[in-house]
Formats: sequence, structure tokens, C-alpha cells
Amino acid sequence: MASSPPTATLTPRTWTRDNSPFFISNDPKLISVKAVNEAFGKDFLYWTKPFPEDVLHQMLHGSMSFGVYKRLQPEQTQTEPETLTTENTEQIGLARMITDGISFGYLSDTYVLPEYQGDGLGRWLIDCVAEVFSLESMPHLRRIMLLTSGQRLEEFYGQTLGVKVVGHEPRPDIGKDLVFMNAKPTAKPTARPALG
Ligand SMILES: CC(C)(COP(=O)(O)OP(=O)(O)OC[C@H]1O[C@@H](n2cnc3c(N)ncnc32)[C@H](O)[C@@H]1OP(=O)(O)O)[C@@H](O)C(=O)NCCC(=O)NCCS
Repeated sequence: MASSPPTATLTPRTWTRDNSPFFISNDPKLISVKAVNEAFGKDFLYWTKPFPEDVLHQMLHGSMSFGVYKRLQPEQTQTEPETLTTENTEQIGLARMITDGISFGYLSDTYVLPEYQGDGLGRWLIDCVAEVFSLESMPHLRRIMLLTSGQRLEEFYGQTLGVKVVGHEPRPDIGKDLVFMNAKPTAKPTARPALG
């Protein structure tokens, strides 16, 4: 008889750093469809255009979306932690894992807004994704995939997610040579080998 699905890995998580207004979260309640759509309209996201808001809502909520957020109010010393909401945060980045939450993840729509780039937020974001998409938190994980462009990002994703290049897709329409990257998480010696 089928048991309940192992949804524990889908429990939303939030990552913070001392004295930083920035945090990462995969809590769907914090996603700002408006902020993401505004970013999708900018040239630096060369692979996409904005979507109708209800369509983008479905895309973001039908995936495991990791947001990079900035607290809008200075942190105060309180005994109770401040409750984070869309009202007191601004979404400044995204990494969207299209996933069944168990065995597979396709990483898409990764960005940090240009004014916040180059300060380590992108690496922190993908480190958080890697923490969730690991055999430790997803014991049945079989494969992670993504598309990217450029040597620097190939190396970055190799370091953070352990993915390797498995194919190329020349895209003259957007002036890019895209690469497919893929990782099969290494099974622990005690675990059954992943076959997918
Ligand atoms: C890629 C991106 C999310 C990284 O965010 P970030 O906050 O700037 O990242 P960090 O400061 O933590 O740097 C991490 C890595 O991002 C990449 N990166 C950062 N700035 C970059 C730039 N101007 N050009 C190319 N790669 C860059 C590098 O690989 C860097 O690692 P390195 O410094 O060891 O080479 C961000 O630069 C971005 O949104 N770029 C435009 C959209 C994009 O290309 N997204 C990736 C699609 S696959």
C-alpha cells in the first residue's frame, strides 16, 4: 500500500547571515511575482521575457523557487525574530528548481539584480540550492541539470553543484553558445546506486 509521500524535504527553509540585510529562502510565501517579472523584462536576463502574472505565478509556485531577499527595515534586537513577509522584504534574486521534490531538479532562471552582483550573493544562493538538492536532504535524488553560458559560470556551477558539461546548444538567436550541465549525485557507500 502506498504510504504518504516524503514531503519533509519540501519544508521551506531560510538562510541568514549575521549582520546582513540579505537572506535566502525557498519559502513560497515570500516570492514576489511582480519583482521577478520586472527582472525578466531586463536585458541581463537574455533568455527570457516577462510572462502574464498568473502564468509566472504558476511557474514559480510549481517549482522550488529560491529567492534572494533584502530586509526593508533595519534589524532590531528583539526577543522574537522578525516575521519575514512580502511587505518587509524586497526580492533581488532567484534560482528556480523545476523538480518533483524527490528525484530530479532542473535549475533555471538564476539571477541576482545587477546592483547586487559581485558580492557573493549568487554563490550563497547556489550553495543553498546545493544543500537542499543533495543526497543528505533528498536521499532519492538522481539527477540535476541546467543550461548556462560562459567559462566562468561553467566553473561556478561545477564548484557549487558538481555539474559537468554534457552537451552544447549554439543559440545564434540570442548570441550565446549554451552548455548543458548535469550531475548524478554520488551515492553514499551504504545507499543503493542511483539509476536514472
Ligand atoms: C550569475 C549571477 C547569478 C551570480 O550572482 P553574483 O551575486 O554576481 O555572484 P557572486 O558574486 O557570488 O559570484 C559567483 C559567480 O558568479 C559568476 N559571475 C559573477 N559576476 C559575473 C559576471 N559579471 N560575468 C560572468 N559571471 C559572473 C562567476 O562565476 C562568479 O564566480 P567567480 O567569482 O568565482 O568567478 C549574476 O551574476 C547574474 O545574475 N548574472 C546575470 C544572469 C545570469 O547570467 N544568470 C545565470 C544564468 S545560468
